Amino acid sequence: MSFVSTLTRRTPEQDTDMSTANTGQQTPMLDVRGLRKVYASAKRSVEAVRDLTFSIDPGELVCLVGPSGCGKTTLLRCISGLLETTSGEVVLEGKRVSGPPEGMAVVFQEYGRSLFPWLTVWQNVELPLKEKGISRAERKRLTTESLVAVGLADFHSAHPWQLSGGMQQRVAIARAVAYEPHVLLMDEPFAAVDAQTRGELEDLVRALWERLGVTVLFVTHDIDEAVYLGQRVVVLSSSPTVVLEDVTIDLPAERDQLTTRALPRFTELRAHVYERVQQAKSGAQAAE
Ligand SMILES: Nc1ncnc2c1ncn2[C@@H]1O[C@H](COP(=O)(O)OP(=O)(O)OP(=O)(O)O)[C@@H](O)[C@H]1O
Ligand SMILES: [Mg+2]
Repeated sequence: MSFVSTLTRRTPEQDTDMSTANTGQQTPMLDVRGLRKVYASAKRSVEAVRDLTFSIDPGELVCLVGPSGCGKTTLLRCISGLLETTSGEVVLEGKRVSGPPEGMAVVFQEYGRSLFPWLTVWQNVELPLKEKGISRAERKRLTTESLVAVGLADFHSAHPWQLSGGMQQRVAIARAVAYEPHVLLMDEPFAAVDAQTRGELEDLVRALWERLGVTVLFVTHDIDEAVYLGQRVVVLSSSPTVVLEDVTIDLPAERDQLTTRALPRFTELRAHVYERVQQAKSGAQAAE
């Protein structure tokens, strides 16, 4: 498919690199060091994130799970440079993040609010490319290809409100992918779609990740989803947040909704992560 051939493919070298994931043998794509975030106002201050340290290697797909309110969105906002950290730092490709970085795209949970209702599907996907200063011909190519990749080529002239929730979320994914990010952050992107659509969108994310070699940080509160999608699952404690455990998901790379979820190892990993999240909810703090 032209979409694949024109964007960065995962190379055999990258595949080899991924086997050394998280061993510290290569420069991380994303490095979160001692991140702390306190929301302070005149009336009260909330320590949302206490001390988060983890890193993601180039081309990894890492899922982040944790109890509601533990600071997942806060963390993503800090990583994407939309929010200042209280202390600690976020380093992307060796550079400290101090504002929205060029090589990053974010897919938010509330697609209804993240798409512009007065713009067509095409215009929504194209807009960030215009802002990036990409030429008209290149914008056309990238927009077409990303809409084909998410199966929405025929809906380019529709407005978001004419589409189902799952289709709107596909537009948000197309927009992020067209931008050709090095890092893709996703904040509970499928929380509002039905189970079947959710499975399809999960497979779409895996397929795009495999083809494009993009580094993905995927936040979800759904443990099955995290284990199905990720190469690693980082479990966060309840707020004030620390990393409780960084679980390696040693499932075969070829994943399928039916066979992968039926594997005994899937059940084991799911049970393990579930237990850790339950501990997180009951106030566990120390990472083992
Ligand atoms: N702008 C803000 N001002 C003050 N406190 C905030 C603000 N945003 C978030 N918080 C607080 O920070 C903590 C973490 O919130 P955050 O939205 O990051 O959690 P979350 O893990 O994304 O939750 P959820 O799973 O429900 O999406 C919560 O206690 C929340 O009340
Ligand atoms: Mg959130």
